[in-house]
Amino acid sequence: MKSEPDWQHGLAGRVLVTGASGLLGRELSLRIARPGVRLSLWGRNPFRLTEVATQCREAGAEVEICALDISNPHAAISALCVQDDADPFSLALLVAGLGDTLSPGAVVEGPAQVIRLAQTNFVAPAAMASFLAERMVQRGKGRIGLVGTAAAAHSLPFAASYSGSKAGLARFADALRLAVRNSGVSVTLISPGFFGPGGQDDEVRSRPGEIAASVVAEQMIAAVVRGKPELVVPRRFLALRWFDRLLPRPLRDRLLLSLRLP
Ligand SMILES: NC(=O)c1ccc[n+]([C@@H]2O[C@H](COP(=O)([O-])OP(=O)(O)OC[C@H]3O[C@@H](n4cnc5c(N)ncnc54)[C@H](OP(=O)(O)O)[C@@H]3O)[C@@H](O)[C@H]2O)c1
Repeated sequence: MKSEPDWQHGLAGRVLVTGASGLLGRELSLRIARPGVRLSLWGRNPFRLTEVATQCREAGAEVEICALDISNPHAAISALCVQDDADPFSLALLVAGLGDTLSPGAVVEGPAQVIRLAQTNFVAPAAMASFLAERMVQRGKGRIGLVGTAAAAHSLPFAASYSGSKAGLARFADALRLAVRNSGVSVTLISPGFFGPGGQDDEVRSRPGEIAASVVAEQMIAAVVRGKPELVVPRRFLALRWFDRLLPRPLRDRLLLSLRLP
Protein backbone atom coordinates (compact mmCIF):
# COMPACT_ATOMS: atom_id res chain seq x y z
CA MET A 1 0.00 0.00 0.00
CA LYS A 2 1.27 3.53 -0.86
CA SER A 3 1.99 5.52 2.34
CA GLU A 4 0.58 9.05 2.73
CA PRO A 5 3.09 11.95 2.54
CA ASP A 6 3.77 13.19 6.11
CA TRP A 7 2.40 16.70 5.38
CA GLN A 8 -1.08 15.23 4.90
CA HIS A 9 -1.43 15.06 8.69
CA GLY A 10 -1.38 18.87 8.72
CA LEU A 11 -4.53 19.04 6.61
CA ALA A 12 -7.68 19.53 8.64
CA GLY A 13 -10.25 22.18 9.47
CA ARG A 14 -11.45 24.98 7.21
CA VAL A 15 -9.58 25.54 3.95
CA LEU A 16 -9.99 28.35 1.42
CA VAL A 17 -8.95 27.82 -2.22
CA THR A 18 -9.36 30.74 -4.63
CA GLY A 19 -9.11 29.95 -8.34
CA ALA A 20 -10.63 26.53 -7.57
CA SER A 21 -12.36 26.46 -10.97
CA GLY A 22 -8.97 26.67 -12.72
CA LEU A 23 -6.26 24.12 -13.42
CA LEU A 24 -4.07 24.43 -10.32
CA GLY A 25 -6.92 25.29 -7.95
CA ARG A 26 -8.80 22.17 -8.97
CA GLU A 27 -5.70 19.98 -8.50
CA LEU A 28 -5.18 21.45 -5.03
CA SER A 29 -8.83 21.10 -4.00
CA LEU A 30 -9.01 17.45 -5.04
CA ARG A 31 -5.81 16.66 -3.13
CA ILE A 32 -6.99 18.40 0.03
CA ALA A 33 -10.55 17.00 0.00
CA ARG A 34 -11.05 14.31 2.69
CA PRO A 35 -13.24 13.66 5.71
CA GLY A 36 -12.64 16.33 8.37
CA VAL A 37 -11.82 19.08 5.83
CA ARG A 38 -14.31 21.89 5.19
CA LEU A 39 -13.50 23.49 1.84
CA SER A 40 -14.52 26.91 0.56
CA LEU A 41 -13.94 26.97 -3.20
CA TRP A 42 -13.79 30.36 -4.92
CA GLY A 43 -13.80 31.24 -8.63
CA ARG A 44 -16.00 33.01 -11.15
CA ASN A 45 -17.43 30.15 -13.20
CA PRO A 46 -20.20 28.52 -11.10
CA PHE A 47 -20.45 25.45 -13.36
CA ARG A 48 -16.78 24.53 -13.06
CA LEU A 49 -16.85 25.30 -9.34
CA THR A 50 -19.84 22.96 -8.91
CA GLU A 51 -18.01 20.19 -10.78
CA VAL A 52 -14.96 20.49 -8.52
CA ALA A 53 -17.19 20.71 -5.43
CA THR A 54 -18.99 17.49 -6.37
CA GLN A 55 -15.69 15.62 -6.72
CA CYS A 56 -14.45 17.01 -3.39
CA ARG A 57 -17.67 15.92 -1.63
CA GLU A 58 -17.23 12.44 -3.09
CA ALA A 59 -13.80 12.40 -1.40
CA GLY A 60 -15.48 13.09 1.95
CA ALA A 61 -15.01 16.86 2.39
CA GLU A 62 -17.72 19.38 3.31
CA VAL A 63 -17.76 21.98 0.54
CA GLU A 64 -19.20 25.41 -0.12
CA ILE A 65 -18.63 27.41 -3.28
CA CYS A 66 -18.34 31.15 -3.80
CA ALA A 67 -18.67 32.52 -7.35
CA LEU A 68 -17.18 35.99 -7.12
CA ASP A 69 -14.99 38.34 -9.19
CA ILE A 70 -12.04 39.28 -6.97
CA SER A 71 -11.04 42.14 -9.26
CA ASN A 72 -13.44 43.97 -6.92
CA PRO A 73 -11.27 43.56 -3.79
CA HIS A 74 -13.87 45.14 -1.47
CA ALA A 75 -16.43 42.48 -2.45
CA ALA A 76 -13.78 39.79 -1.90
CA ILE A 77 -12.94 41.06 1.61
CA SER A 78 -16.64 41.31 2.56
CA ALA A 79 -17.25 37.70 1.47
CA LEU A 80 -14.10 36.55 3.28
CA CYS A 81 -15.19 38.30 6.46
CA VAL A 82 -18.62 36.62 6.41
CA GLN A 83 -17.07 33.18 5.79
CA ASP A 84 -14.31 33.53 8.40
CA ASP A 85 -16.82 34.79 11.01
CA ALA A 86 -19.00 31.72 10.39
CA ASP A 87 -16.17 29.15 10.45
CA PRO A 88 -12.55 30.39 10.78
CA PHE A 89 -10.03 29.39 8.12
CA SER A 90 -6.98 27.42 9.21
CA LEU A 91 -5.43 27.26 5.73
CA ALA A 92 -5.82 29.61 2.74
CA LEU A 93 -4.48 28.94 -0.76
CA LEU A 94 -4.79 32.13 -2.81
CA VAL A 95 -4.40 30.75 -6.32
CA ALA A 96 -6.66 32.93 -8.53
CA GLY A 97 -4.74 34.94 -11.10
CA LEU A 98 -4.73 36.19 -14.67
CA GLY A 99 -1.94 35.73 -17.19
CA ASP A 100 -2.52 38.23 -19.99
CA THR A 101 0.17 39.49 -22.37
CA LEU A 102 0.71 42.14 -25.04
CA SER A 103 -1.83 42.16 -27.91
CA PRO A 104 -0.35 41.36 -31.34
CA GLY A 105 1.15 44.50 -32.91
CA ALA A 106 0.95 46.56 -29.69
CA VAL A 107 4.05 48.14 -28.13
CA VAL A 108 2.66 48.38 -24.58
CA GLU A 109 -0.38 47.10 -22.70
CA GLY A 110 -3.37 49.44 -22.36
CA PRO A 111 -4.27 50.93 -18.95
CA ALA A 112 -7.43 48.78 -18.65
CA GLN A 113 -5.31 45.62 -18.83
CA VAL A 114 -2.79 47.01 -16.34
CA ILE A 115 -5.62 47.76 -13.85
CA ARG A 116 -7.32 44.36 -14.35
CA LEU A 117 -4.12 42.40 -13.76
CA ALA A 118 -3.02 44.55 -10.84
CA GLN A 119 -6.40 44.12 -9.10
CA THR A 120 -6.58 40.36 -9.70
CA ASN A 121 -2.94 39.37 -9.24
CA PHE A 122 -1.85 41.82 -6.57
CA VAL A 123 -4.49 43.96 -4.84
CA ALA A 124 -7.09 41.26 -4.11
CA PRO A 125 -4.76 38.43 -2.98
CA ALA A 126 -2.62 40.82 -0.93
CA ALA A 127 -5.67 42.33 0.80
CA MET A 128 -7.16 38.87 1.42
CA ALA A 129 -3.88 37.55 2.83
CA SER A 130 -3.57 40.58 5.07
CA PHE A 131 -7.14 40.19 6.34
CA LEU A 132 -6.64 36.50 7.09
CA ALA A 133 -3.18 36.98 8.61
CA GLU A 134 -4.52 39.47 11.14
CA ARG A 135 -7.27 37.09 12.23
CA MET A 136 -4.96 34.07 12.25
CA VAL A 137 -2.45 35.95 14.45
CA GLN A 138 -5.27 36.61 16.94
CA ARG A 139 -6.07 32.88 16.88
CA GLY A 140 -2.37 31.98 17.20
CA LYS A 141 -2.29 29.69 14.16
CA GLY A 142 -2.84 29.52 10.41
CA ARG A 143 -1.21 28.87 7.06
CA ILE A 144 -1.39 31.10 3.98
CA GLY A 145 -0.08 30.23 0.49
CA LEU A 146 0.04 32.84 -2.28
CA VAL A 147 0.60 31.81 -5.90
CA GLY A 148 2.99 34.09 -7.75
CA THR A 149 5.14 33.03 -10.70
CA ALA A 150 8.78 32.42 -11.58
CA ALA A 151 8.25 35.23 -14.14
CA ALA A 152 8.01 37.75 -11.26
CA ALA A 153 11.81 37.79 -11.11
CA HIS A 154 12.11 39.04 -14.70
CA SER A 155 11.06 42.28 -16.48
CA LEU A 156 9.13 40.73 -19.37
CA PRO A 157 8.49 43.44 -21.96
CA PHE A 158 5.56 41.49 -23.47
CA ALA A 159 3.96 40.87 -20.05
CA ALA A 160 4.77 43.94 -17.97
CA SER A 161 1.47 43.85 -16.03
CA TYR A 162 1.74 40.14 -15.34
CA SER A 163 5.36 40.10 -14.21
CA GLY A 164 4.89 43.44 -12.40
CA SER A 165 1.72 42.48 -10.51
CA LYS A 166 3.17 39.12 -9.48
CA ALA A 167 6.46 40.78 -8.44
CA GLY A 168 4.40 43.07 -6.19
CA LEU A 169 2.69 40.02 -4.73
CA ALA A 170 6.03 38.30 -4.15
CA ARG A 171 7.40 41.29 -2.23
CA PHE A 172 4.16 41.59 -0.24
CA ALA A 173 4.18 37.89 0.66
CA ASP A 174 7.75 38.08 1.92
CA ALA A 175 7.06 41.20 4.00
CA LEU A 176 3.85 39.69 5.44
CA ARG A 177 5.75 36.50 6.30
CA LEU A 178 8.24 38.54 8.32
CA ALA A 179 5.52 40.61 9.98
CA VAL A 180 3.74 37.52 11.37
CA ARG A 181 6.84 35.53 12.35
CA ASN A 182 6.67 33.86 15.78
CA SER A 183 2.86 34.15 15.85
CA GLY A 184 2.03 30.60 14.80
CA VAL A 185 1.09 31.90 11.33
CA SER A 186 3.08 31.21 8.17
CA VAL A 187 3.03 32.81 4.73
CA THR A 188 4.39 30.85 1.76
CA LEU A 189 5.02 32.23 -1.72
CA ILE A 190 4.70 29.75 -4.58
CA SER A 191 6.74 30.67 -7.68
CA PRO A 192 6.01 28.16 -10.44
CA GLY A 193 7.28 28.09 -13.98
CA PHE A 194 4.93 27.01 -16.77
CA PHE A 195 2.56 24.21 -15.86
CA GLY A 196 -0.26 22.53 -17.75
CA PRO A 197 -2.56 19.53 -17.59
CA GLY A 198 -0.93 16.12 -17.59
CA GLY A 199 -0.58 13.11 -15.34
CA GLN A 200 1.61 12.94 -12.26
CA ASP A 201 5.32 12.92 -13.17
CA ASP A 202 4.51 13.70 -16.82
CA GLU A 203 6.66 16.37 -18.44
CA VAL A 204 4.37 18.21 -20.82
CA ARG A 205 6.48 20.19 -23.25
CA SER A 206 4.13 22.53 -25.09
CA ARG A 207 5.79 25.61 -23.42
CA PRO A 208 9.44 25.93 -22.32
CA GLY A 209 10.09 23.70 -19.32
CA GLU A 210 6.38 23.09 -18.76
CA ILE A 211 5.50 20.61 -15.99
CA ALA A 212 2.23 19.04 -14.88
CA ALA A 213 -0.06 21.05 -12.58
CA SER A 214 -0.32 17.96 -10.35
CA VAL A 215 3.40 18.25 -9.55
CA VAL A 216 3.00 21.92 -8.58
CA ALA A 217 -0.08 21.11 -6.45
CA GLU A 218 1.65 18.30 -4.57
CA GLN A 219 4.72 20.39 -3.74
CA MET A 220 2.66 23.48 -2.95
CA ILE A 221 0.52 21.78 -0.31
CA ALA A 222 3.61 20.30 1.34
CA ALA A 223 5.40 23.68 1.37
CA VAL A 224 2.40 25.58 2.78
CA VAL A 225 1.57 23.00 5.46
CA ARG A 226 5.22 22.98 6.55
CA GLY A 227 5.26 26.81 6.61
CA LYS A 228 8.16 27.22 4.13
CA PRO A 229 8.94 30.80 3.02
CA GLU A 230 8.94 30.04 -0.72
CA LEU A 231 8.57 27.19 -3.19
CA VAL A 232 10.21 27.63 -6.59
CA VAL A 233 9.12 24.84 -8.94
CA PRO A 234 10.92 23.59 -10.98
CA ARG A 235 14.05 24.48 -8.99
CA ARG A 236 16.00 25.53 -12.11
CA PHE A 237 14.07 28.84 -12.06
CA LEU A 238 16.08 29.78 -8.96
CA ALA A 239 19.25 29.66 -11.06
CA LEU A 240 17.55 31.82 -13.71
CA ARG A 241 16.61 34.36 -11.01
CA TRP A 242 20.25 34.70 -9.94
CA PHE A 243 21.36 34.87 -13.56
CA ASP A 244 18.95 37.80 -14.13
CA ARG A 245 20.25 39.60 -11.00
CA LEU A 246 23.93 39.13 -11.67
CA LEU A 247 24.07 39.81 -15.41
CA PRO A 248 25.22 43.33 -16.40
CA ARG A 249 22.12 45.36 -17.33
CA PRO A 250 22.92 45.88 -21.08
CA LEU A 251 23.36 42.13 -21.51
CA ARG A 252 20.28 41.34 -19.44
CA ASP A 253 18.20 43.86 -21.46
CA ARG A 254 19.32 42.29 -24.73
CA LEU A 255 18.35 38.85 -23.49
CA LEU A 256 14.93 39.99 -22.24
CA LEU A 257 14.22 41.82 -25.51
CA SER A 258 15.06 38.69 -27.47
CA LEU A 259 12.35 36.69 -25.66
CA ARG A 260 9.19 35.97 -27.63
CA LEU A 261 5.70 35.05 -26.42
CA PRO A 262 5.59 31.27 -25.81
N1 LIG B 1 -0.32 27.98 -15.76
C1 LIG B 1 0.91 28.42 -15.67
O1 LIG B 1 1.80 28.08 -16.47
C2 LIG B 1 1.29 29.34 -14.53
C3 LIG B 1 2.65 29.60 -14.30
C4 LIG B 1 3.01 30.39 -13.22
C5 LIG B 1 2.04 30.91 -12.37
N2 LIG B 1 0.72 30.64 -12.62
C6 LIG B 1 -0.28 31.18 -11.67
O2 LIG B 1 -0.95 30.09 -11.06
C7 LIG B 1 -2.30 30.45 -10.76
C8 LIG B 1 -3.24 29.41 -11.35
O3 LIG B 1 -2.99 29.28 -12.72
P1 LIG B 1 -3.84 28.29 -13.65
O4 LIG B 1 -2.99 27.91 -14.81
O5 LIG B 1 -4.47 27.25 -12.80
O6 LIG B 1 -4.93 29.30 -14.19
P2 LIG B 1 -6.38 29.04 -14.78
O7 LIG B 1 -6.61 27.62 -15.10
O8 LIG B 1 -6.59 30.08 -15.83
O9 LIG B 1 -7.29 29.41 -13.51
C9 LIG B 1 -7.30 30.70 -12.98
C10 LIG B 1 -8.25 30.70 -11.82
O10 LIG B 1 -8.31 32.04 -11.29
C11 LIG B 1 -9.67 32.46 -11.30
N3 LIG B 1 -9.76 33.88 -11.57
C12 LIG B 1 -9.14 34.58 -12.55
N4 LIG B 1 -9.52 35.87 -12.48
C13 LIG B 1 -10.41 35.95 -11.45
C14 LIG B 1 -11.17 37.01 -10.91
N5 LIG B 1 -11.10 38.26 -11.39
N6 LIG B 1 -11.98 36.75 -9.85
C15 LIG B 1 -12.06 35.49 -9.34
N7 LIG B 1 -11.38 34.46 -9.82
C16 LIG B 1 -10.55 34.69 -10.86
C17 LIG B 1 -10.33 31.67 -12.43
O11 LIG B 1 -11.72 31.67 -12.24
P3 LIG B 1 -12.76 31.32 -13.47
O12 LIG B 1 -12.04 30.35 -14.36
O13 LIG B 1 -13.92 30.71 -12.76
O14 LIG B 1 -13.02 32.60 -14.15
C18 LIG B 1 -9.67 30.32 -12.24
O15 LIG B 1 -10.30 29.62 -11.20
C19 LIG B 1 -2.49 31.85 -11.30
O16 LIG B 1 -2.32 32.78 -10.25
C20 LIG B 1 -1.37 32.00 -12.33
O17 LIG B 1 -0.97 33.33 -12.51
C21 LIG B 1 0.33 29.89 -13.67
